Amino acid sequence: MKQVQLAAYGVPEQVVRCNEVPDVGAPGPGEVVFDVLAFPINPADIAFCTGHYRLRPPLPATPGAECVGRVAAVGAGVSHVAVGDHVINLQRENWTQRRLVRGEDVIAIPKGIPLRQAAMLRINPPTAQLLLSDVTKLSAWDWVVQNVANSAVGRLVIRLGRAQGIRTVNVVRRESLFAELQAMGADACVVDGPDLAERVAAATGGSPVKLGIDAVCGEALSRIAACVADDGAVVTYGAMSGGQPVIDRNDLMFRGVTLSGFMLGRFLGRRSLAEIRAIFAALGAEMLAGKLDAPVAEVYPIERIAEAVAHAQRDAKGGKILVAPNGEI
Ligand SMILES: NC(=O)c1ccc[n+]([C@@H]2O[C@H](COP(=O)([O-])OP(=O)(O)OC[C@H]3O[C@@H](n4cnc5c(N)ncnc54)[C@H](OP(=O)(O)O)[C@@H]3O)[C@@H](O)[C@H]2O)c1
Repeated sequence: MKQVQLAAYGVPEQVVRCNEVPDVGAPGPGEVVFDVLAFPINPADIAFCTGHYRLRPPLPATPGAECVGRVAAVGAGVSHVAVGDHVINLQRENWTQRRLVRGEDVIAIPKGIPLRQAAMLRINPPTAQLLLSDVTKLSAWDWVVQNVANSAVGRLVIRLGRAQGIRTVNVVRRESLFAELQAMGADACVVDGPDLAERVAAATGGSPVKLGIDAVCGEALSRIAACVADDGAVVTYGAMSGGQPVIDRNDLMFRGVTLSGFMLGRFLGRRSLAEIRAIFAALGAEMLAGKLDAPVAEVYPIERIAEAVAHAQRDAKGGKILVAPNGEI
């Protein structure tokens, strides 16, 4: 079977290899084997390839934080999934054709979810949901400001927020995105820049912004913090600029703004397996209803992984880059 392996940590398109490796074999008791039908290339996967992610396993390492698969075989004692079920996997190393995992790591999802969307169910939808629920208490009519608003997570924040009556100001890098984001429920859109706080205040009509959500870090984070009301909260969950968080000490000390960091695994880790399954059941139902789709720019075969990771790093690429390791989806 084919598997992506890193020959070294470095420039992603130069270090990814599509190698032939031994098949995973038959599942033992409590185990599940599934064929990987699709995986996305997320910013965290790119960071993994460069060696700058929090995990840096010994080489040759296989990236891949999420995927959708189809169960090929189950071991003795596995009853919550059956052969043919579509599943998502709570474990990593998914840039491959086949996985053998512990049964408790796979969660069955409705077969009606388009595979391209199901491949992106595991990480970004719960991230958006927990950013809105776990950082500060938000109620209907509260305002939230977020950057990278046209990213997959950003779009999900808009949609999940709208469903709860939460209003969003959406910070992007170009005005041409406004109409699309407004059509999906964005209350206001602004282009990032030095006077962001004034333009966000104009967009909300001066209403206080309770939460700022950042995935850029660097000075962009300080601009988001400046938009947040006194005693408001800022959470950072990504670093698309590659920088460290920057925040004005006046916002922290004089205005009482709090800054915290979000990582999905840490926040899911506070919940039981039953609660985690319930989160994915609810998000899966939303996805099945077509309420949580994210744009896909292109789907590559696994043999073209180097091209796929290069494409995933382009600006304004217009959607996720996916890989379908077992044929077209
Ligand atoms: N902490 C967690 O648990 C967690 C979970 C999921 C995702 N994340 C993070 O969330 C962020 C978004 O992920 P995603 O999968 O939704 O991304 P995505 O769909 O691949 O989109 C990437 C976004 O980043 C923007 N961007 C790229 N470089 C930038 C820069 N230098 N400055 C400002 N914006 C930039 C792009 O804007 P353009 O369209 O203008 O190019 C685009 O909006 C990433 O940082 C990711 O690591 C974190």
